[in-house]
Amino acid sequence: MMTFALPAARRLLPALFLVLCCLLAAGARADERKPPQAAIASAYPLATEAGFEVLEAGGNAFDAAVAVSAALNVVEPRGSGMGGGGFYLLHFGSEGKAVFVDAREVAPAAATRDMFIGSDGQPVPGRSTDTALAAGIPGEPAAWAHIASKYGRLSMAQSLQPAIRLAREGYPVYARLVNDITRKQKALERTPDGKRIFFVKGAVPREGHILKQRDLARSLELLAKKGPDEYYKGELGRRLVAGVRQLGGIWSTEDLANYRLVEREPLVGSYRDVRIVTAPPPSSGGIALINVLNILGGYQLDKLDQAARKHLVIESLRRAHRDRAEYLGDPAFVRFPIERLLSADYAAGQRASIRIDKATPSAMLPGYTGDSSSGTSTTHFSVLDREGNRVAASLTLNAWFGTGLVASGTGILLNNEMDDFAIKPGAPNMYQLVGAEANSVEPRKRPLSSMVPTFLESGRGVAILGSPGGSYIPSMVLLGTLNWVDGADAEKIVAARRFHHQYLPDSVAAETGAFTEAEQASLAARGHSFRPWPATIGNMQVVTWDYEGRVVAASDPRAPGKGIVR
Ligand code: DON
Repeated sequence: MMTFALPAARRLLPALFLVLCCLLAAGARADERKPPQAAIASAYPLATEAGFEVLEAGGNAFDAAVAVSAALNVVEPRGSGMGGGGFYLLHFGSEGKAVFVDAREVAPAAATRDMFIGSDGQPVPGRSTDTALAAGIPGEPAAWAHIASKYGRLSMAQSLQPAIRLAREGYPVYARLVNDITRKQKALERTPDGKRIFFVKGAVPREGHILKQRDLARSLELLAKKGPDEYYKGELGRRLVAGVRQLGGIWSTEDLANYRLVEREPLVGSYRDVRIVTAPPPSSGGIALINVLNILGGYQLDKLDQAARKHLVIESLRRAHRDRAEYLGDPAFVRFPIERLLSADYAAGQRASIRIDKATPSAMLPGYTGDSSSGTSTTHFSVLDREGNRVAASLTLNAWFGTGLVASGTGILLNNEMDDFAIKPGAPNMYQLVGAEANSVEPRKRPLSSMVPTFLESGRGVAILGSPGGSYIPSMVLLGTLNWVDGADAEKIVAARRFHHQYLPDSVAAETGAFTEAEQASLAARGHSFRPWPATIGNMQVVTWDYEGRVVAASDPRAPGKGIVR
């Protein structure tokens, strides 16, 4: 037997060795590499610190995510909060796998397809943005409870403490918040609670004023003490529903009781040696990101001059955005050709229609529908802990402070996420968004989102990235990806100048400095036209970890956020 078995075993040895190496390599990816430090980047220093407070108390990245989210609710009230929703992309260092927590708002059961349309058949100005009808059923508190209980090491109550303290004891108003409140003064003054909370004797607070939010502190405390049922089935929920109905909204207690977050498989794509782990529908952003990278993957970008390279990025973005309005919506309600949109063959077809010397007018692409959603608020943060766990979270109320309406006695701002539906298929909404039937209003449906929290992974290391900015978000994450592929770290990614194309309007939005004069001339000669980048768009929060050791957390230099590595 021995004499027979040995040669056979010997023949098998190389194969066995290979399998073992693969297993070890996979294991190393999942288990053995640990970052030397933890890192958090968020839109405000106090929120970043809240995350570290929880890490230092023995929490992991997921506990920190709950703490940062709740703190952002308090210190960046324009962006996100208990009255809104969002997406959390989680990566488990010990298992090397990721999950996507979809805490997107849903339409109330009493919502109807034409609820934002007037008797003239046209969208009623402001109804889907400024009224209580604009508010979807929130998912953020459900996400905090879910993430804390399923993945955290601490209780949700512990992770909410920094936010409760910030709400009760207050924090100094900063310049950007003065500006935020000033810009939304009219909206915030429409409820007695908004007037009381965000103004001092009727005036916008000055920088340095200590802003206390006692009602919000109480709501957070109730959630901490009694758990998510207090919000979705209990007294706090009843108060919210009463507040919304008093303002003319259509929420019911059943809507809150019926809210379900959904855990989804993230979308996975690749570009060169980089694995992209990103947001699936109801985000449209992950599909756009992977599709654009699939198109660009067919070119040798590094062999091209910068103008040609940027031209190809613009042409790819134009094509990816065309498909969004046409096909995408809540996957629980509509079927769409996701495999096709993500396939290499589809990208090859799109590539075949791109000319290197000439812009394709958007009107010449088939299916002239379009999408030009953009927005003015929302928030993103990125977390890496020392076990290699990661969180990329994008949270939103939609516009600044959502509707600006505060549900009486709760301190909770109501979102206006219903405006992310195609409120009248074919007609532009607040942000000139035009969508198709796939994204029309239906009871309990999730509106399509552009938010795209993303991980990049390669032999070099990982990047955790995302940004607010409505339909501009996928472009920012795309440029961040291309920059990371070229060797940039978090600091360089957030600082890089940005440009964007979204099919319609058919022009390139560009920050000053995004193109050199020569590049701009070369792009113009190809037929591109330009518009300025909206000043309010974009606030990237990025963490990068290079396996050779360096961890970098960087906050967008355009805003007062903070990245900390500790
Ligand atoms: O989910 C979405 O796509 C929008 N509600 C996000 C809005 C946004 O990012 C606004 N930010 N500037």
